[in-house]
Amino acid sequence: MLPDELRIWLNHFEYHAEHPRGIPPTLADVLRPEERRLIASSIATFQLGEQSQGGTLLRAAERFARRHEIPALGRIVQLFIGEEQRHAALLRCFMEDHGIAPKSRDWTDHIFRRLRRLAGFELYLCVLISAELVGNVYYRALESATGCQRLKVLCRTLVADELVHVGFESQLLLDLRAGRAPAVRTLMRWAHRAFFAGTATVVWLTHPAVLRHCGYNARSFLRLCLAQYAFYLEPATATLAPTSVP
Ligand SMILES: [Fe+2]
Ligand SMILES: [Fe+2]
Repeated sequence: MLPDELRIWLNHFEYHAEHPRGIPPTLADVLRPEERRLIASSIATFQLGEQSQGGTLLRAAERFARRHEIPALGRIVQLFIGEEQRHAALLRCFMEDHGIAPKSRDWTDHIFRRLRRLAGFELYLCVLISAELVGNVYYRALESATGCQRLKVLCRTLVADELVHVGFESQLLLDLRAGRAPAVRTLMRWAHRAFFAGTATVVWLTHPAVLRHCGYNARSFLRLCLAQYAFYLEPATATLAPTSVP
């Protein structure tokens, strides 16, 4: 990534750290009991996923930044972690106001955290972007599953930030892959795509109520997730996302 491009990302994250997105307090905030039952466990799992001190990521990013002489990267990742913590706080605040209990453990969250600790910055990014791409599809589904205005705007706010995250991470990953031998690049692409498909499948299996409620079946959900993956990580082969979005 060129220094000018890094500066643009840094400016973005600095601006949003100084002007964090908030949810207007005047929005209607009515969550019907049946909606609450539908989303409670699911939203708590995603809230847990957003919540991280980010120590492992920051250390990996700083090591990577030193090795590749890109000092801005450490600061960007620091600001990025702050943004994720704000997502967790916004979700938690909504949950508290609606009597939804937070989770302290979830097996899917546990596996993701273990995987991210296993290796260096690049593998961390692969795991992270997989979760975020599927998360964006999920938040859009959650938005359409509820009539609560506050939750709708909250979902849109999270997606707005996450789109920037995946934009930044995909640019970094594609740059890193471009420097590799073609065979290694192909192998990495296959492995990442398989991991991503596995992630989307796990999210489908563990959040079926919310996803079915807004019209997805396993096939349409997986297809939309893979279209997002292709758009960001296989740009040369990407096609338009399917139009059959529920
Ligand atoms: Fe997030
Ligand atoms: Fe994110």
